[in-house]
Amino acid sequence: MSDWQRTVECGVLGEAEENQQVQLNGWAHKVRTFGDLVFIDLRDRTGIVQVVVDREETPELVNTANTLRSEFVLSIQGTVRKRMPGTENPRLQTGSIEVAAKQITVLNPSRHIPFQISDEEQMQNVDESLRVKYRYLDLRRPKMFQMLQLRHSVIKIIRDLLDAEGFLEIETPLFTRSTPEGARDYLVPYRLQPGLFYALPQSPQQYKQLLMVAGVEKYFQIAHCFRDESQRSDRQPEFTQLDVEMSFVTQEQILQLIERIMTTVVEQVSTKTFPRPFPRFTYDEAMALYGTDKPDIRFGLTLTDLGSAVSRCGFSVFDSALEAGGTVKAVRYPGGASLSRKEVDALAALCKEAGAGGLATIAVAQPNPDEIKSALSKHLAPAVMQQILQNCQAEPDDLICIVAHQNPKTVAAALSRLRLEIGARCGLRNRDTLAFCFVTDFPLVQWNQEENRWEPEHHPFTMPLEEHFEFLESDPGKVRAQCYDLVCNGQESASGSIRIHRADIQARVFALLGISEEVQRAQFGHLLDAFSYGAPPHGGFAPGIDRLIMNLLDEPNIREVIAFPKMGLGYDPMMDAPAPVDQKQLKELGLIIAPPQQARKE
Ligand code: AMO
Repeated sequence: MSDWQRTVECGVLGEAEENQQVQLNGWAHKVRTFGDLVFIDLRDRTGIVQVVVDREETPELVNTANTLRSEFVLSIQGTVRKRMPGTENPRLQTGSIEVAAKQITVLNPSRHIPFQISDEEQMQNVDESLRVKYRYLDLRRPKMFQMLQLRHSVIKIIRDLLDAEGFLEIETPLFTRSTPEGARDYLVPYRLQPGLFYALPQSPQQYKQLLMVAGVEKYFQIAHCFRDESQRSDRQPEFTQLDVEMSFVTQEQILQLIERIMTTVVEQVSTKTFPRPFPRFTYDEAMALYGTDKPDIRFGLTLTDLGSAVSRCGFSVFDSALEAGGTVKAVRYPGGASLSRKEVDALAALCKEAGAGGLATIAVAQPNPDEIKSALSKHLAPAVMQQILQNCQAEPDDLICIVAHQNPKTVAAALSRLRLEIGARCGLRNRDTLAFCFVTDFPLVQWNQEENRWEPEHHPFTMPLEEHFEFLESDPGKVRAQCYDLVCNGQESASGSIRIHRADIQARVFALLGISEEVQRAQFGHLLDAFSYGAPPHGGFAPGIDRLIMNLLDEPNIREVIAFPKMGLGYDPMMDAPAPVDQKQLKELGLIIAPPQQARKE
């Protein structure tokens, strides 16, 4: 046995170990030297314990102790003892004891580190790219290690649950061909025949469907997915999904499984509360009530349709929006009546960012709600104003915020943005709640104005509602799909669908999406062939694991929940990737790099 083998871990020591001889391994978290007395906070992955070197007790150790610096790797032998009364440290788990050092071995020194990992407060101000460049140091922070532990626990809970329910965990290839999920592919050139490329999977979608054709019936995978899309705070170019697929299954059974998984995970690793059963909204309901298919249902303040209240009201902004097939809708801002002009202008700016022309408001006075303040009074009859207030169930001190536009989606986008802002300002987005809900019955396709074509709302393998098959050619916009999202606190957590398992329906959907028979054969021939060999009815879903961890930790930045994340534009400052490759490698791959163009826009 090496002479530095530990007998116990730092974080578990307590008064029960008093007088025990221990050997500890770890890093010097903090070293405080007072000449004859040196305190070393020794850290391993379980926690921190204070080690004391005292010239009076161990004169031979003091010189060594005085040379120690933060992040040296140490092996320390010593005796556990209670701290002197009044010197306990309540912030440390081990704060009632300390270890009197008898021997200290420096296993490895450390250079000065680029940031002070022992000071969490200071770490909040460290530039994130510096932290990611030195991620192996950043991950030494107890907070980051706890995140890694949580990820591990969550994945284990999911594995155990699915295993108990008879699911098989199966790995699917990373070198494959394009599976459309709406982003660009990452491509891998094929050396043996230049001009051919593998695509890294945007998700294992096609493989999991093929596994159903193969008779697996219940599949899951903790799957790495790759998408070349613009980054957001909840998106990474490579991320992890829990990918699930089942045969002979109904949408109801799938929703219940998702709910079971999420409930089990949250109950086992968190104290957050969540409404059960998870509320369900159809896409149309979610859009009508919240203006979004990702509603944050931690609070009410649902939107009110003012179409009938302001119909032919004589105010040209409202009339023209409604005549052009648009909508006029409102959201209440409790307590908003007392906002300054500047503050209301800031709300209007949010609506404009979402594409609306502006924001109309009615301030309801307190204590007398009959007194209102609004520029609309010049344009609308008092009875119409009263009707608006009544429809919105306005209360004293409310600000009623109204948006009109010829495009209902613009009104929805503006008001949903505004609603979130109001929810945040009113303190209604409770951080201790995980408000899951399902959104179902999405449209099968949406019209891409720029490209003049229908594109899938989810992906091209989603089964339309059976009663809507007949509209596939005649009125595609009307077709609803057997498709569902799980939403948590206003963020999409998972999506899934019942799949098309019949070659004839798949071909009709491909045709609707403008994918010619030739392209169908070339790109999806394997899938269409598979469906012609007895494919069972099947469906599945995929929650993002990173987003689940974000929810559990109430962490707005996805990079904080990934061991080695990419920074903006997909750059990894630690590995300095992406990086140029040798001319020789390019030649082998038959690749020639075009001259640098102007910086590419996303
Ligand atoms: P979808 O594309 O909706 O569906 O993805 C499912 C879930 O994966 C997570 N996610 C991401 N997380 C981090 N960064 C990203 N760039 C990113 N993109 C997606 C989200 C999302 O809800 N094959 C289908 C699922 C199915 O139908 O079974 C799919 O991938 O949490």
